[in-house]
This record gives sequence, structure tokens and C-alpha cells, in this order.
Amino acid sequence: MKFFVDSAEIDKIRELAEYGMVDGVTTNPSLILKSGRDILEVTKEICDLVPGPVSAEVVATEADDMISEGRKLAKIADNITVKVPLTWAGLRACKVLSDEGRMVNVTLCFSANQALLAAKAGATFISPFIGRLDDINMDGMELISDIRTIYDNYGFETEILAASIRTVNHVTQSALIGADVITAPPEVLMKLADHPLTDKGLDAFLKDWAKTGQKIV
Ligand code: E4P
Repeated sequence: MKFFVDSAEIDKIRELAEYGMVDGVTTNPSLILKSGRDILEVTKEICDLVPGPVSAEVVATEADDMISEGRKLAKIADNITVKVPLTWAGLRACKVLSDEGRMVNVTLCFSANQALLAAKAGATFISPFIGRLDDINMDGMELISDIRTIYDNYGFETEILAASIRTVNHVTQSALIGADVITAPPEVLMKLADHPLTDKGLDAFLKDWAKTGQKIV
């Protein structure tokens, strides 16, 4: 399973990259706003730091404008993935940009039928939003599972990029279902190593070690 970082904050991406935990990055207009940076500058810095796919989102709503924005974003670096919303205009942009050989991430997916359309339009990644479905009392994980079944039924190569991940359980469940990628905020990824029994066990080992009076030299 690939780990993408859902952030436009360079320091946090760099920290996770030092652990070898960053296979790619996803950004969106809200994350660019949060970073306080210029989209072209920060995206270029992220692409220089991370060799894997870096999603940069178009903001136009008409297909032709999305295509033109997508081509501009793709000029930032070879590892840019153009992110388009799951609308008919976005699907048309996905088809054109994919046919040109560019990576495309179709975002804001909330149903299995939407995921089916994205795969048929040649998407490299489909981004179903788990947390936002959970927020409205629906089951985000069930959507990931349905898309996995549908893509496997027909051999679609579009990768399932489980997005809007809010908890470590979302990560575990996505891995169990067989999502190809998860994208999560740095804070959630950092929590994956936490376990109280690890802390307790380490504390006991260190106390016993101190009692031995030995040193590893
Ligand atoms: C994915 O590409 C999106 O940027 C992201 O996962 C959205 O997450 P949110 O619902 O927590 O904003």
C-alpha cells in the first residue's frame, strides 16, 4: 500500500519523507490556503522533495478551462498528477489529459457509480472521501469496499486512493479492504506508530537496563 501525505506543508512532508513514509502527496485549494504559499512555488518544492505523484488541483469548472489549467500545472514537474473534480466537466478533462499521457486524480468521489465513470475516463487515481461520508452518517469504508469489488470485477487499473482519512482506523480498514493508496494528514500518519503497550514495554526495559549498570560500547 502506498502512503500519500495530504498536505502542502513542506516541513511536515519532509519529516515523513525522512522515515521513508512518503510515496506521494495530495494537495487541494483548502490545503494551499492553509499553507499560505503560492500554488506554483509550493507545488514545485513538493515535487522536488517527493519523487512520487504530487496531486495539484484545477479550479476551473468548465472542461476546456480545466484542461488548460491541468496542462499548466503539469509543466511544474514530471510527477504532477492533475486533480479534477468528479463532475461531467472533470470527467471530460480526465479523458483528454489521460489520453495525453498525464496522470489524473479524480477527486470528490462519494459513490461507486462515480468511481466507475472515473475509471472509464482513464483516471490514474480515484479519490473516495471517507471522512466526509462518515460526517453525514454514511459509511465511507463501505464505499472503498464497493469500489474495490467493482474495479476487480472488470480489471480496471485506476488506483483507489482512499482520501479524507481522519483516523488511524480508516488507515487499517483501507489496508484490509485493499485500497491501493491512502492519503492522510501528517498528524494521522504520525499516530500510526503509537501504542501504549510499546511505551510501557520500552519504559520497563529501560528501567531494568539501568539497574544492570551495563553500557553497550
Ligand atoms: C484528498 O485528496 C483531499 O485533499 C483530502 O483527503 C480531503 O480531506 P478532508 O475531507 O479531511 O478535507
